[in-house]
Amino acid sequence: MAEIKIPENIVNFIQQLLPERPPLFAEIEEECKRDYIPLIEPEVGQLLRVLLGIKQAERILELGTGIGYSALWMALNPGNEGRQIKITTLEIDQSRYERACHYFQKAGVTTVVTPLLGDANKLIPQLEGTFDFVFMDAAKGQYPEFFQKVWPLLEPGGVLVIDNVLMNGWVIDMYWPERRKKTMVCRVRKLLEMLKEHSGLLTTTLPLGDGVAICVKK
Ligand SMILES: C[S@@+](CC[C@H](N)C(=O)[O-])C[C@H]1O[C@@H](n2cnc3c(N)ncnc32)[C@H](O)[C@@H]1O
Repeated sequence: MAEIKIPENIVNFIQQLLPERPPLFAEIEEECKRDYIPLIEPEVGQLLRVLLGIKQAERILELGTGIGYSALWMALNPGNEGRQIKITTLEIDQSRYERACHYFQKAGVTTVVTPLLGDANKLIPQLEGTFDFVFMDAAKGQYPEFFQKVWPLLEPGGVLVIDNVLMNGWVIDMYWPERRKKTMVCRVRKLLEMLKEHSGLLTTTLPLGDGVAICVKK
């Protein structure tokens, strides 16, 4: 089975329709490209902003900070005006965590974003309070476990957004280009089945970026 990708002309067109981003975004995009650090597509960043606006979210949890790109999309959202938003973001890799802290400082969002260093599996049960918006973008092979851990912290009416759920289309045909990707593909597929069967939420899956699942807790 070949990879399934959104046609390039459609992606380019959608990206052209996005508002201009501050130069800091280009700097992080460059750094990620140079150092092979994964990051959300800009159109997914814009989707997060729109969803945050619809939900009027204030307490946000992110799994997988990377070097801070997606958290900055959320923190510097023009749609946040009038709301006191707080973003808690979790990252297991020390170097990425430190680079993210640097960018949060540079962007002047240290009062908005709280980065935490550690394994999300261990950190989530230690978090205080609940969240009205969760963005899941950490290890794909752990998505089912992350979901189980995050679920009790998501408020009724809360929104859960999960990135990379189509994985180049591999989850559709249960195809993996190399053996070490098998677990990841199987676990993401398992998560999608879990979301489908779950009576406590509504889910839709969009073929945007690498596939985004959007869920709302009943
Ligand atoms: C796709 S990247 C995140 C990109 C980021 N959301 C962005 O768009 O800028 C996934 C990140 O999750 C981190 N990660 C993987 N497993 C983790 C875990 N168990 N707990 C916390 N972070 C984890 C990785 O180190 C990696 O930086």
